[in-house]
Amino acid sequence: MPTAELHIDGKVIELPVIEGSEGERAIDIQNLRSETGLITMDPGYANTGSCESSITFINGEEGILQYRGYPIEELAENCTFLEVSYLLIHGELPTEVELDGFTNSILHHTMIHEDFRLLFRALPKDAHPMAACSAMVSALATFYPDSLDPRDPREVEVSIHRLLAKLPTIASYAYKHSVGQPFMYPDNNLSYVGNFLRLMFANPCEEFEVDPVVEKAIDLLLILHADHEQNCSASTVRIVGSSHVNMFASISAGINALWGPRHGGANQEVIEMLSAIADEGISGKEFVDRAKSRDDTSRLMGFGHRVYKNFDPRARIIKKACYDVLDRLGVNSRLLEIAVEIEQLALSDDYFVERNLYPNVDFYSGVIYTAIGTPENMFTANFAIGRLPGWIAQWREMHEHKHKIGRPRQVYTGETRRKVPQLSDR
Ligand code: CMC
Repeated sequence: MPTAELHIDGKVIELPVIEGSEGERAIDIQNLRSETGLITMDPGYANTGSCESSITFINGEEGILQYRGYPIEELAENCTFLEVSYLLIHGELPTEVELDGFTNSILHHTMIHEDFRLLFRALPKDAHPMAACSAMVSALATFYPDSLDPRDPREVEVSIHRLLAKLPTIASYAYKHSVGQPFMYPDNNLSYVGNFLRLMFANPCEEFEVDPVVEKAIDLLLILHADHEQNCSASTVRIVGSSHVNMFASISAGINALWGPRHGGANQEVIEMLSAIADEGISGKEFVDRAKSRDDTSRLMGFGHRVYKNFDPRARIIKKACYDVLDRLGVNSRLLEIAVEIEQLALSDDYFVERNLYPNVDFYSGVIYTAIGTPENMFTANFAIGRLPGWIAQWREMHEHKHKIGRPRQVYTGETRRKVPQLSDR
């Protein structure tokens, strides 16, 4: 095994170098502190591997994304979201029989306890759906105390199915509550996405038909969001789960992490940005200039990525899908025109070129959500439904491997030891 040498305090320490199946290399520092008394410093963990994982591979320089070895482009072309969920969670694509069993189980656990209605009613009308989703997923632990043990494989399996089945119901109720419409009961005869669309957009007074174009578009978006290795929310799910708390609590924490505008919350902010350009007559150039300015804290939302220093492959697929879906729905989108203009401005601007800032997954997704009538504050909840199988797979993989509780260290820079003065002397 190759090693790296660390020369420190007149000593030479040999550190093993481990290599992943796609050639990624890492210096293993697990014994660094015990051998030297030193820790490493890496704010934002940009150079720190927290685990070995066989779920998702990203090559940010070349713009490659693979789930379990399969390129995202092929999965998007050939699979449904539930097939991809099975792949992420179980490691292989399902056979027909496996897919039938999995789909049947998910589609038959979509209802949530009637008392959730009371919980939703207790929330203000303008509660953000992400706050509501996180609270309700956390509350699942109170309704299902029979599936909380992370060391019991059967209980874990039951929790996985409950989460996948119920999150679309929960997310849609957050929306229904905000607009004062009755909660719809799930329809188990519909597809996973068809049921979600009905929960969101149907009302008890009218027939509702699922539009196959919209159904396919949402399914595609869910696939593209399904996992992204050790991002902020997946790392949150792992670190919370490492305390051996139940899966509902870990996923609830992941939902909160995703909500932030530098993470999944960016999709809502992108559309707010594009709408501001459309409605307030601000030019695209002005927005791009603002995002570059050191005096302005605003960023070009939907641009840049910690890992991709090239085009985000998901953004390419979504941009193409935008044209396709809008064309099929007969929608002429001013927002899409503005997005394309901003993209062109940024990609030919030295500031963005020098920093390798390209459109990410969130840049075009909101255009599709808007075209199909999804309210802006539900964009990130859609992302959460998509990311759920990834969080579950990451949580389960951690539990299947030997792991420690997540607990980073620090370099303390505060006051050194001192005496507590009496109140009268302070
Ligand atoms: N607009 C303007 N400048 C940017 C942007 C942007 N969108 N993104 C990065 N920069 C600049 C940043 O100011 C810094 O410049 P300088 O070196 O002069 O200080 C440089 O590029 C590096 O930025 P960073 O913040 O150190 O990079 P990071 O890898 O820590 O951050 C990011 C990645 C995604 C948080 C960041 O690019 C960003 O805030 N983008 C906008 C929000 C966004 O679209 N988030 C969605 C990410 S993809 C989906 C997801 O993860 O959920």
